[in-house]
Amino acid sequence: MSRKIYVFDTTLRDGEQVPGAKLNRRQKLEIAEQLAKLGVDIIEAGFPCSSPEDLKAVQTVAEQVKGPVIAALARAVPSDIDLAWEAVQKAERPRIHVFLPSSDIHLQKKLRRDRESALQQAVEAVKYAKKYCEDVEYSTEDASRSDFDYLCRVIEACVKAGATVINVPDTVGYAIPEPYGELIRSLRERVPALDKVILSVHCHNDLGLAVANSLAAIRNGAQQVECTINGVGERAGNASLEEIVMALRTREAFYNAHTDIVTTEIYRTSRMVSRLMKIPVQPNKAIVGANAFAHSSGIHQDGILKDRSTYEIIRPEDVGVKAHSLVLTARSGRAALRHRLQELGYNLTEEQFERVHKRFLNVADRKKEISGQDLTSIVEVELTKVPETYTFHSLQIMSGNTMQPLASVTLLKEGRQITDAATGNGPVNAVFNCIERIVGQEGKLLDYDLKAVTMGKDALGEAMVRVEINGTVYSGIGTSPDVIEASARAYVNAFNRFFANGNL
Ligand code: KIV
Ligand code: ZN
Repeated sequence: MSRKIYVFDTTLRDGEQVPGAKLNRRQKLEIAEQLAKLGVDIIEAGFPCSSPEDLKAVQTVAEQVKGPVIAALARAVPSDIDLAWEAVQKAERPRIHVFLPSSDIHLQKKLRRDRESALQQAVEAVKYAKKYCEDVEYSTEDASRSDFDYLCRVIEACVKAGATVINVPDTVGYAIPEPYGELIRSLRERVPALDKVILSVHCHNDLGLAVANSLAAIRNGAQQVECTINGVGERAGNASLEEIVMALRTREAFYNAHTDIVTTEIYRTSRMVSRLMKIPVQPNKAIVGANAFAHSSGIHQDGILKDRSTYEIIRPEDVGVKAHSLVLTARSGRAALRHRLQELGYNLTEEQFERVHKRFLNVADRKKEISGQDLTSIVEVELTKVPETYTFHSLQIMSGNTMQPLASVTLLKEGRQITDAATGNGPVNAVFNCIERIVGQEGKLLDYDLKAVTMGKDALGEAMVRVEINGTVYSGIGTSPDVIEASARAYVNAFNRFFANGNL
């Protein structure tokens, strides 16, 4: 019988550590509810000692999300563990996740500690957490660079102290598949106590090997895999949930292992995380990228038309990417739009529907056909809007390769039009400069991503920006058939976030 692999999703904790991707309580809850639908076994909802807001967010998830275990992270100190428990105690199935480094590099250079006192601290922390909670996970941070004998001693002692899950993280993404798999196998052989608990892995993607390392670990006996949606996470990110899950599903016979993930919910979850964290998914990203199922070469298209299995190892519908037949136009009525939204899985309130309808008409007036992907993008942008201190109204550009681009932008503030003009080193830059002049606040553009939501000359453009304003990073998203307008909408959206944060 194939082994069940527990999926531990840390999008809301490790994934959220990406600068600018901070989620508020409502957004965390929305993602956590979707993760429950996706069928993850454990949701790591946050790091409660990091801020009072995160503590409240984890509490909300713990109280409202039913099904998965809800975990909270804590350093191996009583004050953190107290807060982690305060956060998860109302969950149906709470877990406290405690961590402390085990590598000499971290112990000596970061904590200035010796191995023995750290081992003692680990044991005391597990015992302390255990007083609150039956389910305690212990992570040996930087395990892949730790001395093997010492690692075995720490793990053995923590299991004896009551840990129910032992996690062996590749914190800095240093591992490579064969040795990491070998590490997991050797730990199982050397620490018989591991038979009594769940052995977990947690891989980072600094060498682009997080998924390969996780799979190698599973092949060698790991029972829990820690990962994030779209592979989001600090630096190069964490192992991507969808890639691990689909690799196990596609090659189940080889791994003799499976997960209980509802794979048809993968695409929706990926879009939601990208939208709420404002982290675009690269087009060629496996499983969820815009091109993951697009066949462009003639030979491939010919094969696909004859039999999909020629060039397709996963059916798009298996991960929730639907072939949309019904295309809407500006003349489609409200009923057709409502029906299509329901088909796409959106149950909007009347107020949300009205906003989407208004934006739909605005886009449909300029674009002949609105596909399911276009509509998804429109809905997602509308739903993430913060209160609009400024609303985009219109823009004009004068640009060319022999002149300095000049933009004029009009925004609305409390219904009043404010227009200004600015130059820039390109048309988008001129528009951004103009927006800054209108809102009276400078921003430093850190990231700018523009993609076509669908194929074709009249594709809808989706722009995402990350802007540093007054020392804090804000993200913004905007769509339009006109890419400069999409960029302007995204920039205004980022400033509205800044103003919504009490910066008026
Ligand atoms: O990467 C890491 O080591 C972690 C631990 C806290 C599990 O995120
Ligand atoms: Zn991590």
